[in-house]
Amino acid sequence: MSPFRLTRTLPEDAADAALRDDVLAGLTSTPKWLPPKWFYDARGSELFEEITSLAEYYPTRAEREILVDRAGDIAAATGARTLVELGSGSSEKTRFLLDALTGLRGYVPVDVSESALTQAGRALVAERPGLEVHALIADFTADLTLPDTPGPRLVAFLGGTIGNLLPDERAAFLAAVRALLSPGDALLLGTDLVKDEQVLVRAYDDAAGVTAAFNKNVLSVINRELVADFAPAAFEHVALWNAEREWIEMRLRSRTAQTVKIQELDLTVDFAAGEELRTEVSAKFRRDGVRDELAGAGLELTHWWTDGGDRFALSLSVVR
Ligand SMILES: C[S@@+](CC[C@H](N)C(=O)[O-])C[C@H]1O[C@@H](n2cnc3c(N)ncnc32)[C@H](O)[C@@H]1O
Repeated sequence: MSPFRLTRTLPEDAADAALRDDVLAGLTSTPKWLPPKWFYDARGSELFEEITSLAEYYPTRAEREILVDRAGDIAAATGARTLVELGSGSSEKTRFLLDALTGLRGYVPVDVSESALTQAGRALVAERPGLEVHALIADFTADLTLPDTPGPRLVAFLGGTIGNLLPDERAAFLAAVRALLSPGDALLLGTDLVKDEQVLVRAYDDAAGVTAAFNKNVLSVINRELVADFAPAAFEHVALWNAEREWIEMRLRSRTAQTVKIQELDLTVDFAAGEELRTEVSAKFRRDGVRDELAGAGLELTHWWTDGGDRFALSLSVVR
């Protein structure tokens, strides 16, 4: 079996400190907010995988359709020898790229979820003799240092995860990705597209309640990691379309007036009845906006592919 390596780029206490900082900042703000990266403990990663096969959640199927059609074009355009994937999760759709990139030497999945990286990495090395998998437990919004692997490199950021960053965070993130690329390298970016509001809202508020459980999982993470007493059932899952910002917002609405204690932070947080805590934005994109944001980071859009229903886009860009 070929090698699977797992590296933690930040010590665990730095991740704990980041969670403490985010929870303190977000829950003492008005309105309250939390960053979406804290959804993804082992349970959160499992719930996200369940979401990807829900009837209402079209992005995974639409992006897979593009990869099936275009992986050969992506391979021809990039000739990548190393595939780096940010927010790789289960690496399920990545298999189409791994099949097509015939000169590939190494795969570097990067994720905050150790459980997702371990499960995906072990399966991949078992399936693909000769492929080196060097997984990184890392926050792609923090300083990212990649292992020294052969170029050209293709950095993939799939799933529409870029939409979870706010506009200024996206600009900083894209500039950081640009700084990782050398001439000849490329960025493959998955972006969900603006579409009918009902279709969008349903994708984040499914009938079976899986997305609601995923949303509330962040409360369980805080309970466990910071010794808090959130009662997830005391919050209601909310998904709404913000037409002005062109993004979906997921929120948790307090069903009653309540007080939550977070022992590790020595913090007491009051929620009014009906008060909402924003847990995620998921921005939806248009071609020109993606092109301009890439250009702002010094990247030039070279390819734009959509699925048959124009629901989702994959773009390829290179260093200008
Ligand atoms: C929406 S899921 C997409 C997963 C997969 N790429 C797909 O397309 O199905 C987002 C993934 O990014 C990871 N993630 C979220 N925020 C992150 C961060 N700041 N740094 C690293 N990984 C992150 C999550 O653990 C999760 O696996």
